Amino acid sequence: MKESEKVIWDQGRSAGSASSAQGRVSQKLMVCLILFVSLIYILHTLKLLSTPTTCNHHNHHEHGAFSVHRLSSLNVTEKRETRTEKTKLRHVVFGIAASSKLWAHRKNYIKLWYKANKMRAVVWLDDRVKTHPEEQLPPVKVSTDTSNFAYTNKQGHRSAIRISRIVSETLRLGMKEVRWLVMGDDDTVFVTENLLRVLNKYDHREMYYIGSLSESHLQNIFFSYGMAYGGGGFAISYPLAKALQKMQDRCIQRYPGLYGSDDRMQACMAELGVPLTKEIGFHQYDVYGNLFGLLAAHPVTPLVSLHHLDVVEPIFPNMSRVEALQRLTIPMNLDSAALIQQSICYEKKKKWTISVSWGFAVQIFRGIFSPREMEMPSRTFLNWYRRADYTAYAFNTRPVSRNPCQKPFVFYFSKAKFNSTKLQTVTEYERHRVPHPECRWKMADPSALDKVEVYKKTDPHLWDRAPRRNCCRVKKSNKKGTMVIDVGVCRDGEVSEA
Ligand SMILES: *[C@@H]1O[C@H](CO)[C@@H](O)[C@H](O)[C@H]1NC(C)=O
Ligand SMILES: *[C@@H]1O[C@H](CO)[C@@H](O)[C@H](O)[C@H]1NC(C)=O
Ligand SMILES: *[C@@H]1O[C@H](CO)[C@@H](O)[C@H](O)[C@H]1NC(C)=O
Repeated sequence: MKESEKVIWDQGRSAGSASSAQGRVSQKLMVCLILFVSLIYILHTLKLLSTPTTCNHHNHHEHGAFSVHRLSSLNVTEKRETRTEKTKLRHVVFGIAASSKLWAHRKNYIKLWYKANKMRAVVWLDDRVKTHPEEQLPPVKVSTDTSNFAYTNKQGHRSAIRISRIVSETLRLGMKEVRWLVMGDDDTVFVTENLLRVLNKYDHREMYYIGSLSESHLQNIFFSYGMAYGGGGFAISYPLAKALQKMQDRCIQRYPGLYGSDDRMQACMAELGVPLTKEIGFHQYDVYGNLFGLLAAHPVTPLVSLHHLDVVEPIFPNMSRVEALQRLTIPMNLDSAALIQQSICYEKKKKWTISVSWGFAVQIFRGIFSPREMEMPSRTFLNWYRRADYTAYAFNTRPVSRNPCQKPFVFYFSKAKFNSTKLQTVTEYERHRVPHPECRWKMADPSALDKVEVYKKTDPHLWDRAPRRNCCRVKKSNKKGTMVIDVGVCRDGEVSEA
């Protein structure tokens, strides 16, 4: 009773403020209304009015369902089907931008991730190349001639026009059941399971343009902070690809002065009014030198792609670039969701900080570094203009420490085992034997360790939950020279604290 009174008084007050002259009239009305509502309430509690009210509710409900139905262009059956089926690899088509000159070398990067029986891809080249069916590479096609399109950029190359048309050309092949078209370069390595994890966050029946920026602040200023960098790869939903295909050739003609393919793509996206949806697991890697700092402190998001692998040093030392990436496919196939994910913990007695980048490397630091420092990539790399200038990045970085005691001891991933009864992975990391400067701190020396073993349960649903770093714990080890670490979901109340 009191509740209904309050609602009516509140409504009365707002009505009164709209026109104060009617104040007395509305007060009288209010009293009548209260009496009326009270009467209905009493009747209702006596169940005298039960039939008409339920009837009203029913009508209202039907009306609601009807409008929802009309709003959607899909019928109920269709809607239910697409809602329940998650996007699988077979719903994705990759369009790979390649050049005939570099093909013999670059195809090795594609072999690392492409599985002929599980996914569809087309490699678009500027000229014919020799193919070897036993290599199980995607079909290669020569792009349509684009010499009729104007290209006036002095720095760039007109192949940009050909490459920007790959999405449209792939769409025109008329493949069935395509939900997403994903672009990449011939030197892009995709973690396809993680790509699906990201794509499944979005409704493929809507128009989406998903990708990420450059690491270089200047590149983002020159090009755009709203552009997906092509090398890191980007995804275009089917309806957007269809809309693009209809207008792209006209659109490209309007921007002869642009540099590349990805800015041409973004120009057309802007004409279509579709903004970039940023997913920071796509990596353009516009850097030189060593990716270590970036890979050892990956943001808490699935690793979707790696790019510019010919530009940076091999990700594991003392082996070729392709061999190093082959090694990374071991943890990738065991627990893709966890690949390169960081966890931070402390060996409290020895006063060491430990950072695990699962499947890649473990670092041990003398002294205590807070998680907010550890989650910043250390500047082991140079920027796109080959300088070590920290203002050059579109994210926070930390300098490599100059204190001789603070040089991290790095253990690189070497091998992995999987216990299928416990659903547990055991990954091993071997110490990178490089000379360490003399340290005068009276503190335990991590060089007594040769190896780190990391135990972790596989967690394919990691990214179905809110993003959170895993926790790590230093365990007792009965093997001399081996540190044992457990990585997993943080327990209730567990924090990374020294
Ligand atoms: C709804 O869509 C499904 C699948 O396309 C089709 O089989 C069915 O006949 C449609 N139903 C109606 C009522 O249009
Ligand atoms: C590098 O690899 C070669 C051959 O695999 C090996 O002989 C050599 O000891 C390695 N060097 C280092 C520093 O690990
Ligand atoms: C897996 O774990 C179980 C339980 O600890 C153990 O008994 C078994 O030997 C392990 N299997 C392998 C292959 O390591």
